[in-house]
Amino acid sequence: MKKITIPDIMKMKAEGKKIPVLTAYDYPFARILDEAGIPLILVGDSAGMVFAGYENTLPVTMDEMRYHTKAVVRGNKNALVVTDMPFLSYQVSIEDAKKNAGLLVKDGAEAVKLEGGVNMEDTIKAIIDMDVPVMGHIGLTPQSIHRMGGYRVQGREKKQSKKLLDDAKAVERAGAFSIVLEGIPADLAKEITDAVSIPTIGIGAGPYCDGQVLVIHDVLGLYDDIKPRFVKRYVNLKGIISSAVNKYADDVKQGKFPGKEHSF
Ligand code: KIV
Repeated sequence: MKKITIPDIMKMKAEGKKIPVLTAYDYPFARILDEAGIPLILVGDSAGMVFAGYENTLPVTMDEMRYHTKAVVRGNKNALVVTDMPFLSYQVSIEDAKKNAGLLVKDGAEAVKLEGGVNMEDTIKAIIDMDVPVMGHIGLTPQSIHRMGGYRVQGREKKQSKKLLDDAKAVERAGAFSIVLEGIPADLAKEITDAVSIPTIGIGAGPYCDGQVLVIHDVLGLYDDIKPRFVKRYVNLKGIISSAVNKYADDVKQGKFPGKEHSF
């Protein structure tokens, strides 16, 4: 398999090839996704919720994203690794944004992702001007949870959908290589996908995007108490893991493990 680059991802849109994206936060999952041929691995700040157990992504720090990035990069050979810039690492000043994007690249990320549209145009441009590729992220942006009043679909009303189209164009104009569309109506995602030349990667944005992204814990069913409508669960890994852990505990309690074959 060949190493996937930014131009490869951009070419996929031009060639009409759909782009499957998944998140990873550690070495073993990065290995599995890479070996499965996933072209783009996102070290998402969703790590704060599914890996660390925070209520939302706001507490996630640069140190945490750097740690996850390094682990993923060690497990990956061919996929393009993109890391999320956490809340407060790019909003206060363009200098902060450039420095923090650079640190993630030093850790092995090949691009960074940040949330925002028109309001982030200059920031995206400044990061790209120092040769760090950027992926945009508009629509339901989890770092804006307090402004949105929760995880709500965005762009249902005319004024809001016009704003999202403007946001997508601003991200493209700034030079981003792709853009995540999260939590928006499918028709609006189609309109945006047709209006921009860069690949759109949807999550809860319907089937017309150039690619799709999901959180790996959702795809694998590691949590049985949370299943948003936009998620497709491909396996109940929590059930499989629980049953293995129970069998192990029973074996130890009953003296069935270790057996002779596990002993020296
Ligand atoms: O943090 C994340 O994992 C994300 C994706 C779900 C788009 O931003």
